[in-house]
Amino acid sequence: MAEDRFNPILHDDSAVPETYRITSPLEQRQYLCDGAIKEWTGPRQDVLSPVCETDGGSVRQKRMGSYPLLTETQALESLEAACRAYDQGRGKWPTMPVEERIKHMEAFTYRMKEQREEVVKLLMWEIGKTLPDAEKEFDRTVDYIRDTIAALKDLDRLSSRFVIEQGVIGQIRRAPLGVVLCMGPFNYPLNETFTTLIPALIMGNAVIFKPPKLGVLLHQPLLKAFCESFPRGVINTVYGDGQQVIAPLMKSGRIDVLAFIGSSRVADILKHQHPKPHRLRCVLGLEAKNAGIVLQDVDVENAVKECALGSLSFNGQRCTALKMIFVHEKIADTFIAGFIDAVGRLKGGMPWEKGVAITPLPEPGKTRYLTELIEDARGKGARVVNKDGGAVQHTFMAPAVLYPVSAGMRLYAEEQFGPVVPIAPFQDIEEPMNYVIQSDYGQQVSLFGSNAQQIAGLIDPLVNQVCRVNINSQCQRGPDTFPFTGRKDSAEGTLSVSDALRVFTIRTMVGAKETDENRRIIQSIIRERSSRFLSTDFIL
Ligand code: G3H
Repeated sequence: MAEDRFNPILHDDSAVPETYRITSPLEQRQYLCDGAIKEWTGPRQDVLSPVCETDGGSVRQKRMGSYPLLTETQALESLEAACRAYDQGRGKWPTMPVEERIKHMEAFTYRMKEQREEVVKLLMWEIGKTLPDAEKEFDRTVDYIRDTIAALKDLDRLSSRFVIEQGVIGQIRRAPLGVVLCMGPFNYPLNETFTTLIPALIMGNAVIFKPPKLGVLLHQPLLKAFCESFPRGVINTVYGDGQQVIAPLMKSGRIDVLAFIGSSRVADILKHQHPKPHRLRCVLGLEAKNAGIVLQDVDVENAVKECALGSLSFNGQRCTALKMIFVHEKIADTFIAGFIDAVGRLKGGMPWEKGVAITPLPEPGKTRYLTELIEDARGKGARVVNKDGGAVQHTFMAPAVLYPVSAGMRLYAEEQFGPVVPIAPFQDIEEPMNYVIQSDYGQQVSLFGSNAQQIAGLIDPLVNQVCRVNINSQCQRGPDTFPFTGRKDSAEGTLSVSDALRVFTIRTMVGAKETDENRRIIQSIIRERSSRFLSTDFIL
């Protein structure tokens, strides 16, 4: 880590490119409820950037602004608004022709794109994401909306036909579920929130959305676009403490779908708050501890490159990050030497600086937690094998490579979600296999090797442990058209562009025995276009 070249303290705003400077704090007082942007006059939560600045002699996290700390009253107002907009499925939005809903979404996307620079700026300041990654997050989200619209058109075309089976005429379509509560994570506050919010909306549900604790202000520039692009009450925002604003929503029993990306602990609390949990559909993206397994016959250079990317992109703060690396003992020295070299070349710096890979961490107390993990591993026999690994300066931690890590160390089992890379040697492939089997998590795994037979022998058992086996490639969610899910404590439900359209809907149908009278009725309805559901119209 070229850490000596990085001073993680902002001494002077002129060091920030003009476009990305925060000239005055963003004091957000607005929230979106019932088709209006409402003003909040109550208490607000200060937003501190992970970027530190000097204040006289001391160093502190830069204050970027604040957001409303709403209460149960505003949360329930949003709930009322969403329920009214849905109106038991009879509202304007859930009954609107798909083509029109698409037009609303396109109008929103057009306006969203106008806010790119502002959202990218806030992504950098609020969560410390590098400029290229922040731009990628924004653009990927816009692409996701475009692909969602295309997938919906396909779905609509397929559902516009009738099926005749065993003397029954049927038309099967997907219908919305009701009111959806969307909560995304801090590491992809825009993208991962939108990968549930957009499909939920476009399929005709009404949505209440709460940004993650870190990554709130970046949604503010989009409030007006939301407000003006969708009918009243179809989209509402809540901010504040979960106990204040989320618990009342869940306890009301009127949330039909919970789309939550975060920890299984919180997901369990939310689920249990619902008075009729069997009614609640859940789409959950939870913890993961993806393993990389580096086999003896391997292209070491590629394995090093992918493992460094996989474990340290965005400081390791990705649910898909490689969080435990197993290396065959015969090549461990070569791999580790290459890995240390790769990590040493990662540049630490401010998010807007060119070529930066490692940035300050946004979570309060994170460097302390990671230091505890490192100390625990060191106390049990592991060493920090890279120069300056784990060195902390305020909110910044230089990546630490720990070796040899073994069972019994916290780093072996805990999801570190930060720039700490545990590596363990193995002699017998059963060791990493057992690790994956025993793990509480089951998202993905990466296999690095060149022996096709050996890889084949590992793929078959591993696909029944995790939901994606990556060959000579880091773990990742994308492309977004691929299914993204996990087993055990890692996920509930599957997301991809097309799967998301399914998880926020239910199949519903009209069926009729094939009699002359029923044929006449159906033909008349279609000819007169008197039903939106029973119809052969489709979008080209
Ligand atoms: O944090 C979890 C994300 O879904 C990971 O997405 O693999 O594209 O970084 P990514």
